[in-house]
Amino acid sequence: MPTAVLVSGAGTNLQALLDGVHGREAEIVAVASSTASAGALERARAREIPVAVFARSDYADRAARDEALGAWLLERGTRLVVLAGYMELLGERFLERFPGAVINIHPSLLPAFPGVGAVEQALAYGVKVFGVTVHFVDAGVDTGPVILQRAVELPGARAPDEVMAALRPLEHALLAQAVRLFARGELQADTANPRHIAIGGGEG
Ligand code: GRF
Repeated sequence: MPTAVLVSGAGTNLQALLDGVHGREAEIVAVASSTASAGALERARAREIPVAVFARSDYADRAARDEALGAWLLERGTRLVVLAGYMELLGERFLERFPGAVINIHPSLLPAFPGVGAVEQALAYGVKVFGVTVHFVDAGVDTGPVILQRAVELPGARAPDEVMAALRPLEHALLAQAVRLFARGELQADTANPRHIAIGGGEG
């Protein structure tokens, strides 16, 4: 499954895909970043994966950025797009170019705490159960159908770093699992309710 990974940060989720699925169920054919300073780019270069930077400031508007980004990913043969800490929104035109094939990892149990600062939002609310979600991307912010979720009880957590340290291994495992399931064709939207993603092969 030719897969592109979109990043903005350190790229630990990208690393999990490089270590866990690249060259097996999926082939990472492109890594695109919203910023030239993303540590994720080094991780991709170290594995000789083509990288490119699509900074908003280099384009007239988001639509122009999306157009260039989508074209580059298609040139690379991309059939699955994984948002792994990608801090930009993608427009409908971009999503139409990869129908049902854009997935995102988010550090909360959606629909709780969508958008930026999910862990900070959860701490401010005072929750005792945290978690991560992998979901299909639609035109909203973290609103697409849920693929996989995993929770962790942290009743005494007070600091974002502490919560992220607990969530990171869950993120890495879940994102790799979701890519494997997608690549094997084991994710099917329920015809009765397309928000319900059925998982074949007994996983999930
Ligand atoms: C992850 O926590 C992801 O859930 C969030 O951004 C972070 C990216 O981390 N959207 P990394 O760049 O993969 O290390």
